[in-house]
Amino acid sequence: MDHAELTLRDQPEPRQISLDEYWMPFTPNRDFKADPKMVVRAEGMYYWNDRGEKLVDASSGMFCVNAGHGRKEIADAVHRQLSELDFIAPFLRGHPKQFELAQRVAELTPGDLNRIFFVNSGSEAVDTAMKVALAYHQARGQGGRNMFVSRERAYHGVNFGGVALSGIVNNRRKFGPTLPGIAHMRHTHLKENYFVRGEGAHGAELAEDLQRFVALYGAENIAACFIEPIAGSTGVLVPPKGYLKRVREICDQHGILLVFDEVICGFGRTGKAFAAQSFGVTPDIMTMAKGLTNGAQPMGAVAISERIHDTIVAAAQDGAIEFFHGYTYSGHPAPCAAGLATLDIYRKEGLFERGAALSPYFLDGIWSLKDLPAVADLRGYGLFAAIEVHPAGAPGARGHLLQKKLFDNGLHLKTTGDSAILAPPLIAERSHIDMIVDCLRKTLATI
Ligand SMILES: Cc1ncc(COP(=O)(O)O)c(C=O)c1O
Repeated sequence: MDHAELTLRDQPEPRQISLDEYWMPFTPNRDFKADPKMVVRAEGMYYWNDRGEKLVDASSGMFCVNAGHGRKEIADAVHRQLSELDFIAPFLRGHPKQFELAQRVAELTPGDLNRIFFVNSGSEAVDTAMKVALAYHQARGQGGRNMFVSRERAYHGVNFGGVALSGIVNNRRKFGPTLPGIAHMRHTHLKENYFVRGEGAHGAELAEDLQRFVALYGAENIAACFIEPIAGSTGVLVPPKGYLKRVREICDQHGILLVFDEVICGFGRTGKAFAAQSFGVTPDIMTMAKGLTNGAQPMGAVAISERIHDTIVAAAQDGAIEFFHGYTYSGHPAPCAAGLATLDIYRKEGLFERGAALSPYFLDGIWSLKDLPAVADLRGYGLFAAIEVHPAGAPGARGHLLQKKLFDNGLHLKTTGDSAILAPPLIAERSHIDMIVDCLRKTLATI
């Protein structure tokens, strides 16, 4: 590979940096290094690139920064925490903020999802949830339940459990058979629901795929069904009306745990704390990350029903570890402090309600792009939407070009395949939505 470097001119003394050593994740590295999209500063709704140009953030970074960038309250809380207690072993030792944050998260979760296990990312949350499901069934004498059901087009992170659940071919194809015993339901992106705003009228019957797996494999072998309430990373697939309720019913009928992966949907993206509340369906286990700390510190969490937690804990001998799982940085003091400061901001500023109130204006703006010839489909719910463009060349090539052109035109967003994903911070004003839509219109007309 050619040597690549960049001169940074955002400071009084320009300096040269090498681009060779850092292997970027989920990035065409050669393409990036030939035309780097470098960001050096952020505040509120905006980023600044290395040339000092301002960009609107239309994807909350990567669906994390729900309270907007540069929140001083979070930075101060992390600084205070690191000055007071930088690290404590997470096993056999505790610090107060872990317990406080767990309580605050439990206040937001639906039903009795009141037992909170901390991890460092969404991927770790997913693999942890899989282990919780297996441990629960073992504890209640149903250890034969070790299969999982997931869906085509699902994204559940990149660790081996999550990749096995994943329904996106590029995330699986180079990594062998991953885990055995995973069955994938069909996805719900039906032609009949193209350009439908919110929940589509078609496709609730696809929930019956789960019933078919029960018939095929036997419910006594199935531990859990993993669902993103809105499938995010594949391009915002909003569930059809009645679909999630039907999956819940089938799970209940057969003793299968329902896990909602709310890594993107959580913390106000759908107008409520969690999509579970927006769609009126309570899972048994819920994964979260991203918005938990406003993206300012790496952290994820798994919310577990009291019933599941109590069953696992009660099955262990007195004095024994009940769940042989955890990470060095589980409940690290700095992300706990960031999480508490973040949840304070969400509450004080009413950001979930604010996002819900802005949603119609946001979706109107996105749907105003329907007439553009490049647009193949629009999907959206809350402050979360996708614009899918007609492919040109290899799958994803046009989406990638769109993302680069948008950046050059002053808009940051995440694309996936040929879909642009819109998820503005919940602090957005109507004027920001107008800027986003104007830039999209201008740029979509050129690809
Ligand atoms: C639904 C879902 N689950 C899991 C993950 C993985 O999270 P992380 O990248 O923090 O490991 C993501 C990331 O986008 C996600 O959208």
